[in-house]
Amino acid sequence: MSEVEVFPVPAEWAKRAHLDQAAYEAACRRVEADPTGFWTDVARRLDWMTFPTEIKDVSFNKEDFHIRWYGDGILNVSVNCLDRHLATRGDQTAIIWEADDPHISTKLTYKELHARVCRMANVLKAKGVRKGDRVTIYLPMIPDAAVAMLACARIGAVHSVVFGGFSPDSIAGRIQDCDSKLVITADEGLRGGKVVPLKLNVDEALKTCPGVTDVIVIRRTQAEVPMTAGRDHFYSDLKDSVSDRCDPEPMNAEDPLFILYTSGSTGKPKGVLHTTGGYLAWASYTHELVFDYRPGEVFWCTADVGWVTGHSYVVYGPLANAATTVIFEGVPNYPTSSRFWEVCDRHQVEIFYTAPTAIRALMREGDAPVKATSRKSIRLLGTVGEPINPEAWLWYHRVVGEERCPIVDTWWQTETGATLMSPLPGATALKPGSCTKPLPGVKPQLVDADGKVLEGAINGNLCLTDSWPGQMRTVYGDHQRFFDTYFSTYPGKYFTGDGARRDEDGYYWITGRVDDVINVSGHRLGTAEIESALVGHDGVAEAAVVGYPHEIKGQGIYCYVTLRTDVEPSDSIRADLRQWVRREIGPFAAPDVIQFAPGLPKTRSGKIMRRILRKIAEDDLSNLGDTSTLADPAVVDDLVKNRGHRR
Ligand code: WT7
Repeated sequence: MSEVEVFPVPAEWAKRAHLDQAAYEAACRRVEADPTGFWTDVARRLDWMTFPTEIKDVSFNKEDFHIRWYGDGILNVSVNCLDRHLATRGDQTAIIWEADDPHISTKLTYKELHARVCRMANVLKAKGVRKGDRVTIYLPMIPDAAVAMLACARIGAVHSVVFGGFSPDSIAGRIQDCDSKLVITADEGLRGGKVVPLKLNVDEALKTCPGVTDVIVIRRTQAEVPMTAGRDHFYSDLKDSVSDRCDPEPMNAEDPLFILYTSGSTGKPKGVLHTTGGYLAWASYTHELVFDYRPGEVFWCTADVGWVTGHSYVVYGPLANAATTVIFEGVPNYPTSSRFWEVCDRHQVEIFYTAPTAIRALMREGDAPVKATSRKSIRLLGTVGEPINPEAWLWYHRVVGEERCPIVDTWWQTETGATLMSPLPGATALKPGSCTKPLPGVKPQLVDADGKVLEGAINGNLCLTDSWPGQMRTVYGDHQRFFDTYFSTYPGKYFTGDGARRDEDGYYWITGRVDDVINVSGHRLGTAEIESALVGHDGVAEAAVVGYPHEIKGQGIYCYVTLRTDVEPSDSIRADLRQWVRREIGPFAAPDVIQFAPGLPKTRSGKIMRRILRKIAEDDLSNLGDTSTLADPAVVDDLVKNRGHRR
């Protein structure tokens, strides 16, 4: 390992922080000595209708597997994000909306947001939505996205937000899996000046979703869209006939709050289910600690609400903490590569949180677009979604943050609800590329392939040996799959699917997924999903997909495709396959490289040897390993000879 530069905690941060180093260490000791007391205090940050007496009730073991937090507590998430702030902060800005068009932005106070949420809650009720029903939300990044989520929470409906970049097929699969009766969408979305045909996509999806009885359409662009009589309604036609007051539904802490679909290494996407009390407590606790947050500060997380980062750090964490949260409709490079920083200046953003892929893309444009802006309001920077390479970290620190802002590199997953490992700006010295240390109460462990616990400075598979309140509770409709996916590889532990290195200071460095999941621009994709899309094409006999290092995206998508014998390889079929995957899954899943392969390397028992495919995709031919177990070793020579051009 080469020398790593260490960035000590700035004195002013240690002084102002919720937790300085001593307090962080004390918190970690307290969880060990008095877990019930510690976790009870975490629950106190929320307003409960009935405060819980059952705090933690968890077993990761097969015999009595269960995860319950605050199990007898009663609360409502929307009350915690809205009502409880009204008396003191009703006129404070809750949401700053920055439209795709840089000339348009609006603000909503807590009072206004509360009224809008209640109104939409009443509209949902009027359409027959009841506690426990699932509602699918397919919206652009507009305030109504947060309003829709909170409206569901207010009446106890379970939302399933589907990212606006997903295709009709992907929407349909997600609606069918959780059996939503109602969909909330918009006429169109706007991103980087381009139109996203949201309503048309929903119409296409609903051809295979007969269970959906109502579609509520928010007008965003005012475009004319087809409306199916009886099923589709413009929100503007519904909202004025209902009241802007709505009593919140009392929810048990373990009642579901939302489902969010995420890709795994096998099969169709899993409906990750999060519950009410533990999730909100963890989103709020981590938002306060990691960003050293105080009410009223302007906080901007650039993630889309279609991903978990948007759930926890655009909507739930910030609003629970009385934040002013920014909802940004656009993209980092539209109209210019100064956009992020112009928005920071315009709205005096104090804490800015984005993905390494965006930082790398902007870094490539040079320093000038950054330096054209002030950025004086920014005090703290954050990253999430994938490992950040030290070069990008250093650029973010030096050019964007002018060496004045600590960077919190937050490691977590859809499954974990909110951050598990991250520096705390007032407590943790930074090392570029490391997510540093676990938050209090989080218990990482490295194990080898056989499950042997690894100590000291070492590489291994990352597990968590104990629960935290924000942990997912089940895979919707398939509890067995939940257990099998996360708790069966290393019995008694939650396995993250990530590899990590621990250094001599106990700092963690995530090395990436060790399963067949790839991380493309911070978006998680199962290689199996892309393969299944490819083989769905008439011309394809077989396909294998792997990731390879990509300068901007982190990982690119490399597809080995065996065409049917009657189909000739050509550039046109290559373009066709690319288009096909875009249509099947969504534009962000478009293959970067498609290599036509007369055969795939297989063991004699017929298993595709992905290790070899990964090496070839990485252009690392020195180390193809043992190919002697292959059914037909000549296949590899052909793959090497015809390997594709990476872009
Ligand atoms: C996977 C989870 C966390 C919300 C967004 C992604 C990778 C996430 C980091 C980080 C290195 C990271 C992991 C993880 N990941 N954050 N700071 N450093 N890797 O959520 O789609 O559920 O993906 O993203 O591989 O397992 P997700």
